[in-house]
Amino acid sequence: KTYKITLLPGDGIGPEVIAESVKVLDAVSEKAGFALEYTQQNAGGAAIDAHNDPMPDSVVETCKASDAVLLGAVGGPKWDALTGAMRPESGLLKIRKELGAFANLRPVTVPASLAENSPLRPETVAGLDLFTVRELTGGIYFGQPVGTEGEGDDKKAWNTMVYSVGEIKRVARVAFEWARKRRNKVTSVDKANVLEVSRLWRDTVIELHQAEYSDVELDHLYIDNAAMQMVVNPRQFDVILTGNIFGDILSDASATLGGSLGLLPSASVGGPVGIFEPVHGSAPDIAGQGKANPIAMILSAAMMLDTLGEEAAANAIRAGVEKVLNDGYRSGDLWREGNTLASTTELGDLVKEA
Ligand code: NAI
Ligand code: MG
Repeated sequence: KTYKITLLPGDGIGPEVIAESVKVLDAVSEKAGFALEYTQQNAGGAAIDAHNDPMPDSVVETCKASDAVLLGAVGGPKWDALTGAMRPESGLLKIRKELGAFANLRPVTVPASLAENSPLRPETVAGLDLFTVRELTGGIYFGQPVGTEGEGDDKKAWNTMVYSVGEIKRVARVAFEWARKRRNKVTSVDKANVLEVSRLWRDTVIELHQAEYSDVELDHLYIDNAAMQMVVNPRQFDVILTGNIFGDILSDASATLGGSLGLLPSASVGGPVGIFEPVHGSAPDIAGQGKANPIAMILSAAMMLDTLGEEAAANAIRAGVEKVLNDGYRSGDLWREGNTLASTTELGDLVKEA
């Protein structure tokens, strides 16, 4: 079997970390007996330089014609003066929208060997393995009406939080399916004690659970309690299912638990083609110096394989990453006394070997 992958390395450390993920992908695909066929395209600042457009339609078409998109990161000081649709980041929003990516997946793992790097007590986070499914294209960030009116102290502004049953069901399904592949538990996070839209959210999740996923354990938390639980006892979570704004906040909080952005993968899925990218940006401060941690990008590639149905190969990548970390190799963002400092390419080679 051959999968068509569009590579969008982007800017800054994007190309550096993409190269390491390809190295690792080629190693596991060869062993697992499938092939990956890559097409590389410009995105973000690189596309602005080459085509005067952060996400040219021709690149969108290439992405749509592939099985998955691997994206490094976009943006940087060179393009900071640009505004609106000419900004590198707006290219990202465009490709997510064009590919119909309504679910954002953000796993956070803290292997015991990294627990010391966490802002929380090591015993609170050692072995943490949680997975947030955030609705990405609805809720208060997109709901109508939106407006501002009036003057002085009477001036008002409003946004609308709206979800349809269909929107809730399709993202809840993503969460239940991932739970089945993981520890079989979903925690749905809402504010159903106050918000009408959250009551619909909760009722819909319960209904879908009873109809199709009763084998999965389901519980519900209010967002305020969930935020507290995230810092007090994050290991209670397996899959967290939540809407756009709550997921934005909660997944950023969960992202701090492991101690470095350089570890965190993500995926935006739901349409026919998923986008797999690290949570971090283009890190202009360390670009071109071989200092970038490629693990977030490598783990994003593993999520891509999960989604393509190549789970054994994905698990092999995750096991390789864990071994390299357990062996004490670290890029600068994670280095502590007693570790072995490793460059971007050294870490990629080590994971490939493992
Ligand atoms: P950033 O994530 O690029 O960097 C934040 C800090 O984390 C920096 O000190 C950086 O060196 C460090 N860091 C990030 N990734 C790392 C890695 N893999 N290994 C080691 N250290 C790492 O966020 P920042 O500085 O706010 O943004 C820089 C540029 O990236 C901006 O142009 C921003 O708009 C863009 N950006 C792009 C994103 C994307 O493409 N998805 C997401 C976030 C920011
Ligand atoms: Mg955010």
